[in-house]
Amino acid sequence: MTSIVAIAGSLGKPSRTRLLVEDVARRVAARTSGAVTLVDVAELAPELGRSFSRPAAEPVETALAAIEKADLIVAGSPIYKGSYSGFFKHLIDLVDYRALTGAPVALLATGGSDRHALAVEHQMRPLFAPSTR
Ligand SMILES: Cc1cc2nc3c(=O)[nH]c(=O)nc-3n(C[C@H](O)[C@H](O)[C@H](O)COP(=O)(O)O)c2cc1C
Repeated sequence: MTSIVAIAGSLGKPSRTRLLVEDVARRVAARTSGAVTLVDVAELAPELGRSFSRPAAEPVETALAAIEKADLIVAGSPIYKGSYSGFFKHLIDLVDYRALTGAPVALLATGGSDRHALAVEHQMRPLFAPSTR
């Protein structure tokens, strides 16, 4: 079964980004007979903020292991000040970049307008460069 990890990078509750990420991951799962694991930084925030290296504090370590084992990643962040959220970046900073080689990554973002739409290309794509080339 295809393992799909959906990453929601907003600290907001409720979160438009989480709704978008869940919807896209559900659609991908329906087409691939995949199983979705949701990683929501809003739920991980206290432990994520205390995690600076691996192994990270639980439940962050479990989330990182799921990302590293994923067959496919759906990654979404709200745009804050023209870029991804800080907690989204911190989560991805802790991922072993070698583990993502070959895993397709769908990049998603929500914003207040389309003014910063290019942040997906300029900011988010390099985070996953080995797997999105
Ligand atoms: C601190 C902060 C900074 C933001 N900066 C931008 C921005 O630079 N460009 C933009 O288009 N939207 C910006 N927004 C709007 C959010 O990206 C938008 O409301 C987003 O959908 C929120 O996602 P969420 O509901 O998942 O938290 C900002 C919002 C906040 C709270």
